Amino acid sequence: MPDTSKSAARPHRSAVPDSDRDPAHVGDVPDSGTGGQLPDIEERQLKRLIDGVIDFAIYMLDTEGYVRSWNTGGERIKGYAGDEVIGTHFSRFYTPDDIASDAPARSLRIAREEGRFAAEGWRVRKDGTVFHASVVIDPIWQEDVLVGYAKVTRDITDRLEHQERLEQSRDALLQSHKLEAVGKLTLGLAHDFNNLLNIIINSLELVDHYTMQPKAKKHLQGAMRAAERGALLTRQLLTFGTGRVLVSERHSVATVIHDAMDTLRRACHDSVTLHARFDDDLPGIDVDREQLEAALLNLVSNSRDAMPSGGHIAITATLRDCALPHVADAPPGRFICIQVSDNGEGIPVEYQARVFEPFYTTKEVGKGSGLGLSQVFGFARQSGGFAELKSASGEGTTVSVCLPVPRDSE
Ligand SMILES: Nc1ncnc2c1ncn2[C@@H]1O[C@H](COP(=O)(O)OP(=O)(O)OP(=O)(O)O)[C@@H](O)[C@H]1O
Ligand SMILES: [Mg+2]
Repeated sequence: MPDTSKSAARPHRSAVPDSDRDPAHVGDVPDSGTGGQLPDIEERQLKRLIDGVIDFAIYMLDTEGYVRSWNTGGERIKGYAGDEVIGTHFSRFYTPDDIASDAPARSLRIAREEGRFAAEGWRVRKDGTVFHASVVIDPIWQEDVLVGYAKVTRDITDRLEHQERLEQSRDALLQSHKLEAVGKLTLGLAHDFNNLLNIIINSLELVDHYTMQPKAKKHLQGAMRAAERGALLTRQLLTFGTGRVLVSERHSVATVIHDAMDTLRRACHDSVTLHARFDDDLPGIDVDREQLEAALLNLVSNSRDAMPSGGHIAITATLRDCALPHVADAPPGRFICIQVSDNGEGIPVEYQARVFEPFYTTKEVGKGSGLGLSQVFGFARQSGGFAELKSASGEGTTVSVCLPVPRDSE
């Protein structure tokens, strides 16, 4: 049994005069623990001070966790007025899960046994919404007898969200640097391979021209198909390494997607349905139509492969005002975001950072080369936009390709 004696506990300056559960007034404060009452004027000032604090809920609990006092901060953060909450148990601020795991009683026990309890966690407001709280509980002793607890709660939801946003942009930046480095390496290799493959294809065409033997011609065609597949792969790599010059012209995204629908439907098997939906009056953008079509085909093919026993693919195009996620302090801009969503197997979180890397594939040899998403990534970046992925195992995948809207088209 942990030591609950005075030496184990951090003495507190304040003390609750008695431990009955009569409702106290808003801003009630305990006496100073000097044995007597605080001088009236001092007590009133302290009450006013605590009640005037609006960023912290500061209140007293009795030894069993019933609320004894309340301040304006408590009302602002948790939504309860003093008379609604005083006399009730403080576990009402906890989530059902925390209540089930006995968290309120545990926090009082730790405060009592260790002299202080400090933690962060989710708490529930009067209207049922939750907020992220920083909580400190101090036990209050009077002549070695526990008389209650002082509790200070702060709403740190904003700080948490800010931290999450910061971490997300740091991850996006790291991922972006890594892909840029891989892109440079890939670019050099792809250039050389492209030249070599062009020589091979030209030579095969010449040999084909000079030979009349049907058997040799058959082998030549096989070699030509393999070389052309290799050339296609290097073109994908050149796009990823941003080594391919884009041919951008003003296009309506809705028209490009609409015209590509037949090809995209042909790429899917019968058990997969495909629909497209756009915002009305989307502005035109400057884009390489061929590359946009290739990106759509890559994304739809991926969704198809993720739904071997059928499912649904939705293509949408919407306007979004945001900043480039991979550029620190980028100014906000306007983008058209084309999203391809499926309800397939999804991508486990641990693999999500890798899927845009060239040659990353989970498909068996011959079924995938791992270049589809690198093309999507390279094309989006080279067009002045970005690509992003949202996926959860078993819950489907959404890949967005966001392309900038030119100022004169907004
Ligand atoms: N919609 C999706 N659902 C589930 N997994 C996906 C999806 N899109 C991509 N992936 C995963 O990301 C990997 C990389 O995709 P990517 O398109 O780059 O290559 P690939 O499809 O394997 O090959 P390629 O596109 O070159 O034929 C895939 O192998 C797959 O594991
Ligand atoms: Mg693919």
